[in-house]
Formats: sequence, C-alpha cells, structure tokens
Amino acid sequence: MIFKQLFDNKSSTYTYLIASDKGREALIIDPVLENIDDYISLLAELNLKLVKVIDTHIHADHITALNELNKRTNCTRIMGERSKSEVIDLKVKENDNIKIDKINFKAIYTPGHTDCSYSFLMKDRIFTGDTLLINGTGRTDFQNGDPYQSYDSIFNKILKLPNQTLIYPAHDYNGKRSSTIQNERENNPRLQVGSANEYADIMNNLNLSNPKMMDIAIPANVQGVTLDQIKSI
Ligand SMILES: [Fe+2]
Repeated sequence: MIFKQLFDNKSSTYTYLIASDKGREALIIDPVLENIDDYISLLAELNLKLVKVIDTHIHADHITALNELNKRTNCTRIMGERSKSEVIDLKVKENDNIKIDKINFKAIYTPGHTDCSYSFLMKDRIFTGDTLLINGTGRTDFQNGDPYQSYDSIFNKILKLPNQTLIYPAHDYNGKRSSTIQNERENNPRLQVGSANEYADIMNNLNLSNPKMMDIAIPANVQGVTLDQIKSI
C-alpha cells in the first residue's frame, strides 16, 4: 500500500494520500490549496489516478484543495452529510463505506469540533480530522462546535476502537505524526476526565484566539473555490 503523510507548514495540516499500489486509484484526505502542485507531482510520479478526495470537516485555518483537485482530475469530492459546502459531489453518513480498489474507508460521524466533522476508519488506522488530536482535541467554540458532542464522539466512538488502532489527525503543532487509541486514552491531558461536564469545563475555558485565516477560509471552503477564484479575490 502507498501511504503518504504530507505536512503544510503554514497551517500545520496533515494531508494523506492513499493508494493500493503504483498505477492504481488514489484518495486524498484534507488537502491544502497552496500545495496543489505537490499533490499533482506526487500523483504523476507514482502514476496514480486520483478518484476521490475527502475533507474531514469545513476547515477554518486553510483553504481546501478539494475543488482544485476536482477541476484538474475530475475526482469525486466527499464530505459528511452535514457539510455546508455547496459543491460536494458525495455526502456520506454514519457507517457509509468509501472504496478505492480494495481499500475501504468507513465514515464515522464525530461532531464536536464542528457539526459536520467525520472521521474515517481504514484497516488499522483512523483519520480523526480535528476531533481527536495527539495530546489534544479540536476546539469546540465555533462552527457549531459543542464540547458535549466532542466528548461523545471521542469517548463513545473513537476510543471504542481497538487499543493499537493508529490515529492520524488533521493537525499537529509539535511535530508528532501519529498516535494510538491506547496512548491517547492514557496520556492525552484532555481525556483524563471523569465526566462530560468536566471535559466541557476544560473546552469552555481554553480562551483561544480565532484562526488567522478564519474569515477567508470558512467562506471559501463553503463556496468551494479553485485556485483561479482565489487569485482573483
Ligand atoms: Fe478544524
């Protein structure tokens, strides 16, 4: 299997490219518009046909490359059914399966960071978007975020997976690339709580400033812009 974890320095976003082998179908998760040339080069280098592209949620800190990739490769744009994006080709719901060749991605609805957030389970690993981060969890103070939903998504869905399941988040700000269910359950400081109320207290008192790109990124991601449209703004 081909599994590439790519990093966007500006927004600390992880983007994932997955394919069964060279010359086969590919899927990309959470691509960043500014890195479009890297994705196109990598696809060409590995002789991959990009057929599907997923955003785990509407991002507030960068503009997605979903629409530029669709324009260039005609790949199918996928998000969860609660996504407010106006241009998504396929909206998935809980337990839907997304396939490329023989690789399966199971959609798991994990709201809390946003109300449209989905995680995607692939074999021994889960792409958690910003629902569960390494040593952290996604903020819940905008885009219809809700700390109680975040708690439910993490404790009653993600942490129910086998201990050794690998966690690949959409962001990391400390250079960590992956974790496991067991490691996060035992060591993630946000998860060392006795109740949903205790978790909500932590999340409601983070006092974070808004992402710098928020006022540009959210409308652009809802509208579904391509590179040309950004350049003309
Ligand atoms: Fe996010």
